[in-house]
Amino acid sequence: MSVEWNISAQTWTLSGGNTSYVLHRDAENRLLNLYWGLRLPGDTVRFDPADYISFASFDLPVSVLPLEVPVCGSGWFGQPAVGVRSAGGDEVVDLRVVSADIFSGKPALPGLPAVYTEKEDEAESLAVHLEDALTGLKVTALYSVFTQSGAVTRSLFLENAGSAPFTVTSLLPASVPLWQGNLDAVHLNGAWARERRVIRTPVSEGDFRISSARGASGHEENPFLALCEPNTDEFSGSVWAASLVYSGSFQAFCHTDIFGHSRLSVGMNPEVFSWLLHPGETLTSPEAVLIHSDSGFNGMSQTFHSLYRTRLARGFWRDRSRPVLLNSWEGVYFDFNEEKLLSVAAKAAELGVELFVLDDGWFGKRNADNCSLGDWVANPQKLPTGLSGLSEKVHALGLQFGLWFEPEMVSPDSDLYRAHPDWCLHVQGRPRTQARQQLILDLSRREVQDYIISSVSSVLSSSGIDYVKWDMNRNMTEAFSEALPPERKKETQHRYILGLYRVLEAITSAFPQILFESCSGGGGRFDPGMLFYMPQTWTSDDTDAVERLKLQYGTSFVYPASAMGAHVSAVPNHQTGRSVPLKMRGDVALGGNFGFELDPCKLTQEEAEEAKRMIARVKSLRDLTRRGTFWRLLSPFEGQNTAWAFVSEDRTNVILCVYCALSVPNSAPLRVRLRGLDPAVWYKAEDGRRFFGATLMYQGLTVPLKGDFSSEIILLNA
Ligand code: DGJ
Repeated sequence: MSVEWNISAQTWTLSGGNTSYVLHRDAENRLLNLYWGLRLPGDTVRFDPADYISFASFDLPVSVLPLEVPVCGSGWFGQPAVGVRSAGGDEVVDLRVVSADIFSGKPALPGLPAVYTEKEDEAESLAVHLEDALTGLKVTALYSVFTQSGAVTRSLFLENAGSAPFTVTSLLPASVPLWQGNLDAVHLNGAWARERRVIRTPVSEGDFRISSARGASGHEENPFLALCEPNTDEFSGSVWAASLVYSGSFQAFCHTDIFGHSRLSVGMNPEVFSWLLHPGETLTSPEAVLIHSDSGFNGMSQTFHSLYRTRLARGFWRDRSRPVLLNSWEGVYFDFNEEKLLSVAAKAAELGVELFVLDDGWFGKRNADNCSLGDWVANPQKLPTGLSGLSEKVHALGLQFGLWFEPEMVSPDSDLYRAHPDWCLHVQGRPRTQARQQLILDLSRREVQDYIISSVSSVLSSSGIDYVKWDMNRNMTEAFSEALPPERKKETQHRYILGLYRVLEAITSAFPQILFESCSGGGGRFDPGMLFYMPQTWTSDDTDAVERLKLQYGTSFVYPASAMGAHVSAVPNHQTGRSVPLKMRGDVALGGNFGFELDPCKLTQEEAEEAKRMIARVKSLRDLTRRGTFWRLLSPFEGQNTAWAFVSEDRTNVILCVYCALSVPNSAPLRVRLRGLDPAVWYKAEDGRRFFGATLMYQGLTVPLKGDFSSEIILLNA
């Protein structure tokens, strides 16, 4: 049993992997959290008020109790997990437990992405039903615990079972009190072209908060926040991490209370979210995934990786190695015609590329980023035989054919905008703020969702498309839908995301064999919500190999290598101006879904030969990079050297990847300690050298890197 109910102690103990999570119904029917951490030997935690309430306290008991679903106005002074404004205007809520159910498996969330089980015994679930007697607010707190990994998921279902409407003002699917304090917060911060840098900062009294109000999870912060002990590192120490399966605005924060206890919360951002519930209406929160690790950040990430790779990503491509692709963007930008594309594709095929992707610029009259978004019809000047003609010719070269779309957008200079000027997000009487000379379609509206489904589907069903890059290149402004009444305007951002999810579900399920990759100005929406629909995401618009070390390292805190698009581009690099040798560019891209983003016709003969060898090697290693256990070994955030490794489940095959950004004069030869090997077996390198597993892990392997921008990929086989 993964969920145990102890009637005399009134506790629910959720156990899986190495983790326990303990809830308690107190004598006044409040739901408390007694523990989240290393697995306990069975159901052993008991509630004692003296653990929480100081004998000489001035404080209200409710303000110091470890509430699991805190509500406001009746003694709790922090941000509530469920905040409600009644029809009368007050914001007092008092939730009490009325019942609970335990069941096997894990239910899907209606209209929302969520991790799932394939067999009932993979997880067990607990639904705790709470009620506020006065408003008739019913809340079900739903928990699932994964038996093998100990991952715990949480979401909240709200129902107005009363007789008057009320407005939900705060919604946090996770708000978990920890006994610990004096912790560090770790989050993934960034900007366009430098997303997901690992930032670690001590948190003490008060609040530490990250958020997005942009209508997308964003380049700036990822919907992920971890707390760890000050001595935690990649390999040891405790981590409590929360990841939100959602693609819109969010917040995540740690509040440390007057006793120094921390609380980890993630959920909707109240700056841009509220929701009116009429009697009989319901609202489901996005899902939070909670991971506890006592083996440092690698332990945390490995649990996220296997959960997100196998039980969040779905469909035909989930368990398949992804084709080596060539994307046209950095190679030709908007400057192409059919002839040029076919010469690029032919050269790519010669090198061993398997998928040719036509990026932006193929539709309407688009020759720059100033027009035609929304008009998903091929430009006859550039593509005289249309998409289907091009696709046929690309297929004849032995390549698959992929296509770029940015379906959520509209250019003011487009037929779509001229026909439906009211379909974009806007507020009457105010200017429509443009970014990249484009506006955002109002996906909270059903007719807009239907237009996207039908216009994209008609291209996909008629043009022999094997892959789609789904881009989204700006953040929301004037996000108050014209179609909603005043009291619902602040629902727009969330309704947009729900609309987007409906569109993605419709299109991806209608074309199950198409490989979808999501993108948002690079990695501006690299989040678990998008991964539910599309098994991979374009990591960043920064393709510089040195920058990519940080990008891929940081992204790997939560996301598996199988989710990251990683391309070799031309030098000098278009984002940084840096010239990194082809070998290192390839060795870095090998750590994700490998591709090229350059004009292969411009490669020298020697470079083309090297690219050919590189592609052949990628093909032989990609099964292991996709599903091997990923170990971060040396951090690019801490020095000039970076190392990571992929280790097969049975520990017999290892790909060790080592990189030097700038060499340091007169430094000791680099020694890398491997992890996760079998200590008792011999491993053989490609050059015939043999090493004992324990030696590789405890003493390390010397890797002779020489010079700036150097790298080595070392294969070890037991
Ligand atoms: C932003 C993406 O991240 C790029 O890869 C490229 O597709 C451009 N958009 C095209 O406009």
